[in-house]
Amino acid sequence: MGPRVSEALVTATSFETTRDHFAAHDQEHVFRFWDELDAAGRDRLLAQAAAIDLERLLPAARTAIDTLREAKAPELAPPDDVLELPEHGGDPGGWKAATERGRELLAAGRVGVMVVAGGQGTRLGFEGPKGAFPVGPLSSRTLFALQAEKIRGLRRRGGVAVPWYVMTSPATDAATREIFAREKQFGLPESDVFLFSQDTTPALDFEGRLLLEQRDRIFESPNGHGGAITALAASGALDDMERRGIDTLFYYQVDNPLAPIGDAAFWGHHDRTGAEVSCKVGRKTDPMAKWGLLARCDGRTGVVEYTEISDEHRYATDAAGELVYWAGNLAIHVFATDFLRRMAADADARLPYHASAKKIPYVDRQGHPVAPSEPNGYKLERFVFDALPAANRVSLVEARLPDEFSPIKNAEGVESPETARRDLQAVTRRWLTEAGLELPAPDCGVELDHSRIDGPEEAASFRSLTEAGDVIRTAPGATA
Ligand code: UTP
Repeated sequence: MGPRVSEALVTATSFETTRDHFAAHDQEHVFRFWDELDAAGRDRLLAQAAAIDLERLLPAARTAIDTLREAKAPELAPPDDVLELPEHGGDPGGWKAATERGRELLAAGRVGVMVVAGGQGTRLGFEGPKGAFPVGPLSSRTLFALQAEKIRGLRRRGGVAVPWYVMTSPATDAATREIFAREKQFGLPESDVFLFSQDTTPALDFEGRLLLEQRDRIFESPNGHGGAITALAASGALDDMERRGIDTLFYYQVDNPLAPIGDAAFWGHHDRTGAEVSCKVGRKTDPMAKWGLLARCDGRTGVVEYTEISDEHRYATDAAGELVYWAGNLAIHVFATDFLRRMAADADARLPYHASAKKIPYVDRQGHPVAPSEPNGYKLERFVFDALPAANRVSLVEARLPDEFSPIKNAEGVESPETARRDLQAVTRRWLTEAGLELPAPDCGVELDHSRIDGPEEAASFRSLTEAGDVIRTAPGATA
């Protein structure tokens, strides 16, 4: 009995302290159901509340909400420092040198790969982590499986370990770990797959008050892909990289099945230019395309969101009639690991929260769950690209589209499984054509084993589809 009594006393004391602290910040309502909770519920709520740093959260949230209301357009200038595609006037010699340097870095074991997979994928509406979405296009191969194939190819080409850092969130962590265990790390050595979780942030209603998702739980959601920077440091992933001699990290988002994970030219160019961050950019031809843009913002290279671009900049064209602000952010980056460490140490200053109005589930005063049909509060997120202006140098590399970018965001229509599968097949066909291989009939689906073929050069190592066997699978009538 003794220990139980003293535990209860500890809970009671820390409850009073925490409740008083919350009351001082006008947040006492999170304990509204305290008297009705059982011991486990009380412990859960108290532990969660005690971990929320109101002194940091509330001012940061206030700034985010004020910024949202009075967003001030930055002083813009066109992007510079871009390695454009040769077909758009880029220097072929620069590409060749970048590829060579990239291969050297890979072979020296200096390259790691990281994916952000902590999002909740609400638009897609898929049950489970997005990485488990079957993208095929012929098989039921998932996004994670496809990406692991590409990493296996990279290891084979470099003859080295290429660790994969997979960022989850409390929303996706347990399910992702289960999938990786079940799939035996998708054929990668267990020691080279590093799963780690990002943090969550509470949301606030329009009166600036925390929301209760359940009687014993404050609503929190993943703290945005910018949470990757602090999570890399806190989880020990950056230490792991240091131990391995990795100083160059390729970063992409889990929902892009075409992410160019094997792109040696990208990190080679990053290294040759001495950049701390590099970004893949896509040539925007439709001024209304909802992409963030890489540009000079207040004198530094950064991302300006499409909602912040004035019409004057949006439609500006040069003498050749091309858009002046054309460099769309594809969320594919290379980071110098030293830079990530520096940003993580200075995250509060460098990575502000952004507020966006969302429908947030909550319990009403009677404790009944409510799923609002209209936004009822702000979620708070950090964006990874907010770190860019702090980099000593940012290099931009033009991506070939759609070959490197066809994300799965929506259940149908634009940026959906259908468009991603279509683009995957189109790229595959282009590689086979470039490799001089005969193409399967137009109505025939085709899928590559990306651990063996991740570009036209590797496709050319086979003389025919028959010789390629399972490496190039075809199926009549199975086009996306
Ligand atoms: P999105 O902003 O497209 O969000 O994330 P989402 O969660 O995938 O989808 P919606 O908006 O709920 O429909 C872009 C990428 O950033 C990752 C996602 O997993 C995706 O790869 N992300 C996003 C995180 O890892 N953590 C976050 O907190 C937010």
